[in-house]
Amino acid sequence: MAFPESFLQELKMRNDITEIVSSYVSLKRRGRNMVGLCPFHGEKTPSFNIYTENGSFYCFGCGVGGDVISFIMKIENLDYVEAVKYLAQRAGMEVPENSYDDSMNRLRTRVFEANREAARFYNSALNSPIGAKGLEYFHGRALSDRTIRRFGLGFADDDWTSLCRHLHSKGFKDSEIVAANLGVKRRNGNGIYDRFTNRVMFPIIDLRGNVIAFGGRIMTNEKPKYLNTSDTPVFKKSANLFSLNNAKNSGSRTLILCEGYMDVISVNQAGFANAVATLGTALTSEQALLMKRYADEVIICYDADEAGQKATARAIPILRSAGLLIKVLTIPNGKDPDEFIRANGDDGPAAFKAVIEKSGNDVEYRLLKLKQNYNIETTEGKVAYLEAASKVVASISSPIERDVYSSKICNELGIDKNAFTQQIVNISKRQNRETAGKQLRKIQTDLSGRNDKINTEHYKKPRSSSAEEALVVYLINNPDSAEEISKSVNPEQFQNSLIRHYFKYFLTRIKSGLEPLTNVTADFTQDEASKLYEMLSQYIKAASTEEAMREYIKVINEESEKLSHEDIESMSADELKTYIDKIRKSKK
Ligand code: UTP
Ligand code: MN
Repeated sequence: MAFPESFLQELKMRNDITEIVSSYVSLKRRGRNMVGLCPFHGEKTPSFNIYTENGSFYCFGCGVGGDVISFIMKIENLDYVEAVKYLAQRAGMEVPENSYDDSMNRLRTRVFEANREAARFYNSALNSPIGAKGLEYFHGRALSDRTIRRFGLGFADDDWTSLCRHLHSKGFKDSEIVAANLGVKRRNGNGIYDRFTNRVMFPIIDLRGNVIAFGGRIMTNEKPKYLNTSDTPVFKKSANLFSLNNAKNSGSRTLILCEGYMDVISVNQAGFANAVATLGTALTSEQALLMKRYADEVIICYDADEAGQKATARAIPILRSAGLLIKVLTIPNGKDPDEFIRANGDDGPAAFKAVIEKSGNDVEYRLLKLKQNYNIETTEGKVAYLEAASKVVASISSPIERDVYSSKICNELGIDKNAFTQQIVNISKRQNRETAGKQLRKIQTDLSGRNDKINTEHYKKPRSSSAEEALVVYLINNPDSAEEISKSVNPEQFQNSLIRHYFKYFLTRIKSGLEPLTNVTADFTQDEASKLYEMLSQYIKAASTEEAMREYIKVINEESEKLSHEDIESMSADELKTYIDKIRKSKK
């Protein structure tokens, strides 16, 4: 149940990793490799490497590695089979049918289809007498028919089974409807009923135009106000954004981040197609990195209430560490964007444009919020505010920017700039010392290998583990050495079980005449594959000579003779004596 090797080999050959990656990441040449900013974690200096010689990537920052297939899986959020199909299509290759297990893939396709059918069903209900209530609700919230069409809004009636019956009539099975979270199993086991009833419906659409989920709003003051699709095989709340499909095509590299569905829709209707919202959860770093793919700057436009301001404070560091520039928009009079636009009637769009243009960057926002906590009319208040403000300013990495804010604060409070600047220098020094200390501790734990979550045994026996890793890399890079290596070292001599597993795997493949790395993405977990590509990128130079190979084998042989403290502790006196005799003999 796997793709034929020859097919995968051709697939990888026709989808050059550098070419594929460079459509997502801007790459620079460094020696024989290419480097860029990692798309899987936020960073300012590039640690994401592309190795053209073996078609792999590895990020030294977040430890993710793989081949072109796993890159597409991660960046496009696809499963293995989908990623292979995607690359095949890109290269104009026929995918051999029935050669892989595509039951998961088939279910995902059915869920997409059920969602699309449901969106159609909800939308036509909205435009029929049954949905009059829903249409009235949307009109009451000042949405135009054009906006309703643009967002494909809909209506779920209160019949409790109408959608399920409709989907049945279109050939969908209970299991597929439940997997899509459009229907729910009855507790008595007798069939299923609709998940959404008596709500106006907001379809959530992904970047390829698939309907992946829904949000449904109740039309009264009852709770819960919004009901959202739970996570399904095609939907993960924390990894998607409402209306990113529209925002992506807005032609702007700025995104407006709102809290809710209605805010995004109102902001769109006011002429800003670049608005997005999270889906009923706090912003995640996955969402921030997703935004970074389409934008350089994000304007946070959360509700003006306390919850909205707290959410703003939490979102700032997440967006910042994804490498985004941040602005914060403060809406007057405690309103959310939708209420603000509506309250301004026909002038709504212009008024919103004006607040957007006035939005300050996140430092200004933080200083403003900070100032509200102190009474700067009093001397103590002033001192305390300056103390706190200097910490905010010290956290800015650009010296020019730091200077601008220092001047601004000092002018505002009428104090001497030199003293304030000195304070900032002191704080920066302390912060640098702290980060240096943290880095040193990290290097120490990394070196001891205690931090290696996937290869947990490394630190126990670093000498043998290193030799074992190096030998595996040598074997992959020099498949013709397989005979010789397997004559002089036995997999059972490997002390580290993960590396032993790699060793056996590659020996078997090479002996069967297969190219070592072709099927890694299918045969290992993401973590195991990452570890493997880490090894490949670290030993790329070291492992190239035959002398080196013989040295690795020698170390593995020696180390496998040694017993660990635990082994010795558990020995009987006789066993211990035999062991010591053996060592003595080998020394003679
Ligand atoms: P809000 O409570 O701020 O509502 O929730 P809103 O966006 O202003 O909605 P309207 O204007 O009253 O219609 C913000 C977002 O939080 C999620 C939704 O995504 C909502 O848009 N939410 C809220 C839920 O998922 N469930 C809820 O019960 C409430
Ligand atoms: Mn609202």
